[in-house]
Amino acid sequence: MSGLIRDIGRRVRAPINRASAFKALAAFHAQQHSLEQTVDMAIKFPSQGLFRVESIQQRSEIQALARAVAAITPRNILEIGTARGGTLFIWAHLASHKVVSCDIENPGMRRPLYEAFPPPGSNCKVSHLTGNSHDSTFKAKVESEFAGEPVDFLFIDGDHTEKGVEQDYQDYKHLVRPGGLIAFHDIIEKQALPTNQVYYFWERLKQKTETVEFIDNVDQVGYGIGLVKV
Ligand SMILES: C[S@@+](CC[C@H](N)C(=O)[O-])C[C@H]1O[C@@H](n2cnc3c(N)ncnc32)[C@H](O)[C@@H]1O
Repeated sequence: MSGLIRDIGRRVRAPINRASAFKALAAFHAQQHSLEQTVDMAIKFPSQGLFRVESIQQRSEIQALARAVAAITPRNILEIGTARGGTLFIWAHLASHKVVSCDIENPGMRRPLYEAFPPPGSNCKVSHLTGNSHDSTFKAKVESEFAGEPVDFLFIDGDHTEKGVEQDYQDYKHLVRPGGLIAFHDIIEKQALPTNQVYYFWERLKQKTETVEFIDNVDQVGYGIGLVKV
């Protein structure tokens, strides 16, 4: 019952929250920002309710990843795991042509906000796909979004089980061009949830591939970003 009341409350406040989210985005876009400022905006975007945008990332880790991605001047970016669009906000400011972000959950009213993320003057188009990244029909849909163009950066931050993260890597890595990047979130062994098992896949991948790790504090619980150059 309380969930239902909360849902009704969110819907009633949606027009106000929508207006203030778009206003915050327009105010951000009205000025030039450094990459660090863009990442900070992604971590705590000033919006609420059904328009809440945020990213659950360690600041130093996502800053380091954003710098690595910016350094390859990406044209196309693919993200598995949108959640509340925080990291999507960063990619939309880095890609020059297309960002495809996928989540099993529908973004609902946030979709037009996501599509408005690229800064003024950018030719980048944001496309959100709702579905299970492991479904073969969904994979075909993701591929068709890029119309045969290679992906420069793939961010894997969806299904965090060992099997799930490995499947996303196997299913989507062929889309990434040589010299492109693939990153994984939550590579730290200590995790708050038992289903966060990226570490076990990452440890195996590290044996076979050249990798870089961005870890804020070795004693932290959760987070940690692993990067692979294709
Ligand atoms: C940790 S969150 C992503 C956070 C986001 N990248 C950020 O930092 O702003 C993981 C997301 O992956 C989605 N997810 C989990 N399994 C999935 C699957 N099999 N296919 C697509 N999305 C999935 C969840 O719904 C969740 O929103």
